[in-house]
Amino acid sequence: MFDYDLYIPTHVIFGKGRIKDLPAQLSKFGCKVLLTYGGGSIKKIGLYDTVKALLKDFEVFELPGIEPNPKISSVREGVAICKKEHIDVILAVGGGSVIDASKNIACGACFDGDPWDLVLDCSKVEKALPIVSVLTLTATGSEYDGSAVISNPETNEKLPLFGTGILEPKVSFLDPEYTYSVPKSQTIAGAADIISHTLEQYIVKDGNILTDAMCEGVIKTVIKYTKIAIEDPCNYEARAQLMMVSSYGCSGNLATGRTPSPWVCHAIEHEISAYTDITHGYGLAIITPNWMNYSLNEDTVDRFYQFAVNVFDLEKSSDKMKVAKAGIAKLAAFYKEIGLPTTLSELKVCSEHFEDMANHVLTHWQPLDTAIRPVDKQGILEILKASL
Ligand code: NZQ
Ligand code: ZN
Repeated sequence: MFDYDLYIPTHVIFGKGRIKDLPAQLSKFGCKVLLTYGGGSIKKIGLYDTVKALLKDFEVFELPGIEPNPKISSVREGVAICKKEHIDVILAVGGGSVIDASKNIACGACFDGDPWDLVLDCSKVEKALPIVSVLTLTATGSEYDGSAVISNPETNEKLPLFGTGILEPKVSFLDPEYTYSVPKSQTIAGAADIISHTLEQYIVKDGNILTDAMCEGVIKTVIKYTKIAIEDPCNYEARAQLMMVSSYGCSGNLATGRTPSPWVCHAIEHEISAYTDITHGYGLAIITPNWMNYSLNEDTVDRFYQFAVNVFDLEKSSDKMKVAKAGIAKLAAFYKEIGLPTTLSELKVCSEHFEDMANHVLTHWQPLDTAIRPVDKQGILEILKASL
C-alpha cells in the first residue's frame, strides 16, 4: 500500500434541476460574479438564460468565447476583468476548457504578474478567487479536481496548472440534462478521456482490491453508457452514469494506495494538442492502445490480463499474454466502433514535430521512468510512431 494525499474540497450538487440552488451557493462568496463560458453552446441550450435569470440579484460581468484547449489569451482577459472590477467569485459554465481557464483566471486574479508564470511554476499558486462550476460536458473531471491545462500557441506549449487545495471549484452543479446537446463527436471524445484517466491510474505495478474495482467499474460504465448516449442523446440514465464516473478521473480517488503513475498518455497527448490543437480525447484514443501494447511484456502481463478478464469478460486462460493482447484489441475495437479516430494521420498529424514533442515531455513533465514499463525518449517516439 502506497501513501497518499486525498483532498477534494468540492461540494457536488448532482441531479436534474438542482441549479435552482445556484444563488444560495454563489452568495456565500460575494455578489460580484465573473460568468465564463465558451463559444455559445450554453446559449443554444437555454442554460445562459437560466443562469442570468438566477443571477438577477448579483452584479454579473462576462467572459465569453473560451475556446477548446483554452488559451492563455482568454485567461489574461479574464484576469484583467477580475482585477478591474474586484470580482468576488467566478462562475464557470461549460466543459473542461471553460473550467480550466477559470482556474487560471482565479489564481491569476490574486497574483501580481502574468498568469502564464503560474502555469510555468505552479509553486507560485498560493491563492485564488472561489470558483463555482456548472458542467455541460462529461470528460475531464475538472469540476472535481484542482488542476487545469492551459495552451500557449505562441510557444507551442500545453501545460498543466496544479493547485491542489486551492483551485478546486467550491461547488459544482452536475445536471445530466445539460449534456443532452453534446454532439456525438464530443461524447466519444469524453469517453476516451474518462477511460484514459482511469487507465493511467489502473495500469500501474501495484493496485489494491478497492481501486482496481473502481477503475474497472468506471471503464465498464463508459463502455456501456456511451453507446446508449450516442443512440439516444437525451437518455437521462446514460448521461447521468457518464457524468458520475467522469468526475472521478483526476480527483485522486482512483489512485489511492496504488503505485504512483506518471500519466504517460496525457504527457504525450498534450504535446500533440499543443502543436496541432486536436481534441484531447481523440489524441488519447489513438495513443492509449499503442501505449498499452508498448507496456505489455512478461513483467507486466498480469495487470493487462486482469484488465482483459475483468473489463471485457474475456475467458481466463493459462496463456495470459494472449488474453492480455486480446483485451487491448477489445479496447481499440470499442474506440473504433463508437467512431473515434485510430491513427494520427486521420487527424492530419504527421511526424514533423515528434522529436520536439519527445524532448518537451522529458523537460516539462514528471519523469516517465516510474511507468509500469519505463518510458524514455525512444519509448515516446516508439509510441508516437505506432500511432501514426
Ligand atoms: O465552446 P462551446 O460553445 O461551449 O462548445 C464546446 C466545445 O466546442 C462544446 N460543448 C460543451 N458543452 C456542450 C457543448 N456542445 C453542446 N452541448 C453542450 N452541453 O464541446 C466542445 C469541447 O468543449 P471542451 O470544454 O473543450 O471539452 P472538454 O470538457 O473535453 O475539455 C477539454 C480540455 O480539458 C483539458 C484538455 O486537455 C482540454 O484542454 N483537460 C483538463 C483536465 C483537468 N482539468 O483535470 C484533465 C484532462 O485530462 C484534460 O487534459
Ligand atoms: Zn484527459
